[in-house]
Amino acid sequence: MPDTAQCRVCSGTVEEFFDFGRQPLADAFVTPGQTDGEFFYRMAVGMCQSCTMVQLMEEVPRQRMFHEDYPYLSSGSSVMRTHFEKTAEHFLNTELTGPDPFIVEFGSNDGIMLKSLADRGIRHLGVEPSGGVADMAAAKGIRVRKSFFEESSALEIAASDGQADVIYAANTFSHIAYVDSIFRGVKALLAPNGVFVFEDPYFLEIVERTSFDQIYDEHFYFFAVRSVQAMAAQYGLELVHVERLPVHGGEVRYTVAHAGARPVSPAVGELLTEEDARRLTDPGTLQGFGASVNKTREQLMGLLQDIRAQGGRVVGYGATAKSATVINYCGITPELVDFICDTTPAKQGKLTPGSHIPVRDAKAFAEPYPDYALLFAWNHADEIMAKERDFRMAGGRWILYTPEVKVV
Ligand code: SAH
Ligand code: TMP
Ligand code: ZN
Repeated sequence: MPDTAQCRVCSGTVEEFFDFGRQPLADAFVTPGQTDGEFFYRMAVGMCQSCTMVQLMEEVPRQRMFHEDYPYLSSGSSVMRTHFEKTAEHFLNTELTGPDPFIVEFGSNDGIMLKSLADRGIRHLGVEPSGGVADMAAAKGIRVRKSFFEESSALEIAASDGQADVIYAANTFSHIAYVDSIFRGVKALLAPNGVFVFEDPYFLEIVERTSFDQIYDEHFYFFAVRSVQAMAAQYGLELVHVERLPVHGGEVRYTVAHAGARPVSPAVGELLTEEDARRLTDPGTLQGFGASVNKTREQLMGLLQDIRAQGGRVVGYGATAKSATVINYCGITPELVDFICDTTPAKQGKLTPGSHIPVRDAKAFAEPYPDYALLFAWNHADEIMAKERDFRMAGGRWILYTPEVKVV
């Protein structure tokens, strides 16, 4: 019997559809020699039978994930830097055109998005609980409040700074199980004609690409247009626009306004129709996803074992949070993947959570090149493959595992 849980959005019944078993925290990189006492939890996903929201069956306490040493840096990708510069430009030209506009971003991380707005003198506030990355943003001249965004902090911001024309969150809202508190905060902080804009991995893409590595502790929800529409309505808000984004393996940018404040764009209905046509919420689709995950595991492990048996050497590229799920669910060990190279200083010299594969500086990749590179940062494939053109010139091959296992 699959497990059930109570939906964190509507209190309906969440039925489990896939169990990844015992998993470590995806960003909890371990210091060599200090491998005792790692935190594990049961990672399983389910869909609410009432509102269709896909969510984890178990919530990890937020302080375990987001703290002073949270290692992820948003500015690690040049494509993402451009994406957020364009996002800032978009807000400047559309929502921030009044006499004294104000934008709040929660999950502002190292300030990748707010930097362009701060430089133009736009009144702004980043809300970021992870101290290390918040300090980096502050050092760039960005105004940051070091706290979790939730009802209480939103009320304080509204009292001290006034209501916001834009509340923005990228790859953050889906990390937050306590949506009731967030929405009460948004309701109070958002100006009457303001917009709450958030962008997160799209569940339709996860299913279609079998990108099961999008599932890890920090990703509590897997949004789709139907579930987000229902969620917003529950809090007196309305989903007024959706836009597909090519970043991070396929996302949707959702625009939410106070109910009735703005016309609903045709894009909402169009994407709903597509979700229905693809039978996104059918039990058969979810079962098919599970079968594809297991097929990927078999094929990837078979490939890595064959390469090892033939004396080939594999190195991982990008110690992504996503990689924790692939590595730990498939059972990839340091015997199969020598090390993973990554540009993030806080990950280098550490071991991957659970699996204890060493993480090394990006320079280690070419010293000397491996026979194969397993691309864990597949969402940055174009950027990385362009940068590492010499690897292929030297005869190296990339291993990809989404949408299917292949060597290129
Ligand atoms: N927006 C950035 C960062 C995404 S990582 C980007 O798209 O690249 C998610 C960030 O959300 C982390 O920096 C984490 O510390 C932060 N976060 C988690 N819970 C939060 C909350 N309740 N309020 C504000 N930020 C939060
Ligand atoms: P993300 O997929 O969550 O954005 O994480 C990407 C990880 O990959 C992050 O740890 C940084 C790393 N990375 C590199 O090492 N080299 C690169 O060129 C890029 C784009 C990312
Ligand atoms: Zn629900």
